[in-house]
Amino acid sequence: MEGVSRIWKICTLLLELLHFSQSSITPRTSFFTGSPGRVLSLYNISDALNATVLLLSPDATTLFVGARNAVLSLDVSQPDVITLKNKFDWTPQDAQDRCGGQVENCANFIHVLQFINSTHLYACGSFALKPHDIILTVDTLSVSRKAQPARGICPYKGSERNTAVFVDGELYSATTQDYSGNQPIISRHLSKGQKNDIILESFPKLLNDPTFISSLYIPSEGKVFFFFREDGAEYNFVERFTVSRVAQVCTDDNGGQRVLQKRWTTFAKSRLVCQMEKQLPLNLLQDVVMVPPLANESPDKTLFYGIFTSQWISGQSAVCAFTLGDIKAVFAGDYKTFTPETNQWTIESNTEAKLGKCGLHNDSDSILNLAKKNFLAAKSVQSVGRKLLPTTTEQLYSRITAQRVQAANGHDFTVLYLLTESGFLQKAVLLKSSSHVIEEIQVFTQPQTLKSILLSVEKGMVFVGFSEGVIRVPVSNCSFYSSCAECVLARDPFCGWDSQGKACVPVSSMNSRLHQDVENGSVQAQCTDLEDQNGPPVPKVVQVHLNMLVKLPCHLSSRLAKVSWRFTNHSIVPQFHYLQQRDGSLVFRVTPKTALEFHCVSEEQGFQQIKAIFSLKVQASPRSRIIGGEEMEPIPQLYGDEDTTTPQKSYYNEMVAVSFLFVISLCVLAVVAVMWRRKRNNTACPECVTNKAFSINDSVTLP
Ligand SMILES: *[C@@H]1O[C@H](CO)[C@@H](O)[C@H](O)[C@H]1NC(C)=O
Ligand SMILES: *[C@@H]1O[C@H](CO)[C@@H](O)[C@H](O)[C@H]1NC(C)=O
Ligand SMILES: *[C@@H]1O[C@H](CO)[C@@H](O)[C@H](O)[C@H]1NC(C)=O
Ligand SMILES: *[C@@H]1O[C@H](CO)[C@@H](O)[C@H](O)[C@H]1NC(C)=O
Ligand SMILES: *[C@@H]1O[C@H](CO)[C@@H](O)[C@H](O)[C@H]1NC(C)=O
Ligand SMILES: *[C@@H]1O[C@H](CO)[C@@H](O)[C@H](O)[C@H]1NC(C)=O
Repeated sequence: MEGVSRIWKICTLLLELLHFSQSSITPRTSFFTGSPGRVLSLYNISDALNATVLLLSPDATTLFVGARNAVLSLDVSQPDVITLKNKFDWTPQDAQDRCGGQVENCANFIHVLQFINSTHLYACGSFALKPHDIILTVDTLSVSRKAQPARGICPYKGSERNTAVFVDGELYSATTQDYSGNQPIISRHLSKGQKNDIILESFPKLLNDPTFISSLYIPSEGKVFFFFREDGAEYNFVERFTVSRVAQVCTDDNGGQRVLQKRWTTFAKSRLVCQMEKQLPLNLLQDVVMVPPLANESPDKTLFYGIFTSQWISGQSAVCAFTLGDIKAVFAGDYKTFTPETNQWTIESNTEAKLGKCGLHNDSDSILNLAKKNFLAAKSVQSVGRKLLPTTTEQLYSRITAQRVQAANGHDFTVLYLLTESGFLQKAVLLKSSSHVIEEIQVFTQPQTLKSILLSVEKGMVFVGFSEGVIRVPVSNCSFYSSCAECVLARDPFCGWDSQGKACVPVSSMNSRLHQDVENGSVQAQCTDLEDQNGPPVPKVVQVHLNMLVKLPCHLSSRLAKVSWRFTNHSIVPQFHYLQQRDGSLVFRVTPKTALEFHCVSEEQGFQQIKAIFSLKVQASPRSRIIGGEEMEPIPQLYGDEDTTTPQKSYYNEMVAVSFLFVISLCVLAVVAVMWRRKRNNTACPECVTNKAFSINDSVTLP
């Protein structure tokens, strides 16, 4: 029975892994393009497409855009429109000769756009398969230093990802430095004073086919962190196993004197783990954002929110948070060393506690030789609480930005803005034990290779750059919520109900007596002493004929609300005569017994409210003689609010069901095979085996 029990174990494990589907979270409200509830401003770059990088001026009035063959500055200080201030055309002249047949990458895709100082901008572009950089003035975008070759600072192709950050006028970058994108490099350029430009040591191999995601300067550590994903060379799996990484270099690094000359002496990397217990890891990092600690907290509480997808299960994504303290602890710990002779990784203990520290470049050759070998931290960085924050199986998250928001009661909440592959910007708030997606707003309709997202906390705006231009999305629109109940149920930390003004208004320090409950959305607690502002809706009279099929619509503004249809005595309409459809509407045939008054009741967070009342009035008409007519008579008019609740179709559940059946079939086959082999070993008569095998097969057929 050993074989069977082993198969059983593997099967239960596989079935457990398929359990992920339950943790998906639904956005409360969906706004599709053109919805009046969320008005967006678009700057349509029709003559310079592909807004690859965005950069905001410190006063948040000017947005700099790295586009295809151009750098633009846009005036984003006006509430309704975005206008062009300046444009620097940066089209490669001899591009066609250089690219040969290549069309797709034969343009200058701007990959790096950063402030050098308050008056000058640095830009690096692929420049038609020959990376170049340039220095421009901030105010007029005129050339301050002409274009120069910039191999190793930004990639050759438009679609490749890279990252770069300026620290005190010095440029730290991570990119590939060849046409095929096979030679990755992390380096420092424009180094000041006595400092050398530094590159990555090439032997041993420090990176394995990386995709660079993000880079962040951490002043309290004097380090730049690089986030990327790459092949996990330390895992000896049959399949290529991609891992997500954080790597560090110190800004005071100057390279060694003999060993590691003009090479990083402080480069170290570690694995970032985003995984729930008993589930496959979400191993593909897509984007990272840093949220600084609160004023009274230690810098170790700095948080990094990363979005991850899975190498194995498509359509699955989640957010995981990591603290600076945990990353520091891993880099201060032991390291793994690869010994080519034995082809094995061994753990080297960090006895002198030098590894992972800054200031190594002045150290002895023996320490530098140690640092050269030991660049992979032995421990992985685990996510905070080992849990996933928002997770979804319906959307792939691709970009993230975040901020802390002070709610009306003075508590701080973290709000995440998640851009999905399908073009929705989701706004999620992290609660004590879960997360709540307040809304999603459609910003583009076609999937995009190049996209970027930028938050202006001061202006309360999120900018999204994509192939057709730049879209500006206000972080909230409190006036969309017209009653105290809606305002409280939204659980938007930006919005609270002002009982005097009878409006849902932005939370500000001036007005702290607003009604709001971000954690629980309890209408009962927040809206009791207020008279119901709108009262129950006015009954709508619907003229009907006997035998007609009637469809009563009930549009809710919230996808989290449950709909029930009730009679005036509040009892629920019975399933037998009435059909409640998935969109919440009620369908039934008019008979003398069903020509009644119906209430559409929504329930959310324990709060019930009547959304619509329909009163059916039977009219005598020749039509009433049509008996058994199958076609549905159209209702003259749809009542209710604008429909913002249509969910998008996802095949995830179908996929899980199919995988489930597939695993079960495999398991059954495996058990049959094992039992068949055992039977064959136990008997000498071949005919008996065949018969036995068939009988086992029959008895385990799935229902
Ligand atoms: C906010 O919502 C209200 C009500 O739906 C709408 O009239 C207004 O245009 C919206 N404003 C923005 C900036 O989206
Ligand atoms: C931008 O402008 C072009 C040309 O006028 C148009 O075809 C395109 O649809 C516009 N894009 C958006 C997102 O409105
Ligand atoms: C800013 O950087 C530019 C380019 O490196 C340089 O020419 C200029 O002097 C700098 N300005 C200041 C105020 O440091
Ligand atoms: C390390 O060396 C640099 C020059 O490379 C020097 O400026 C610095 O003072 C030295 N630091 C220490 C701690 O010795
Ligand atoms: C750039 O924009 C064009 C037109 O919108 C689009 O077809 C193309 O895929 C974009 N290029 C990349 C590399 O995303
Ligand atoms: C409520 O009203 C409906 C329709 O008039 C009726 O069928 C039902 O029995 C009533 N329920 C109660 C509990 O009175």
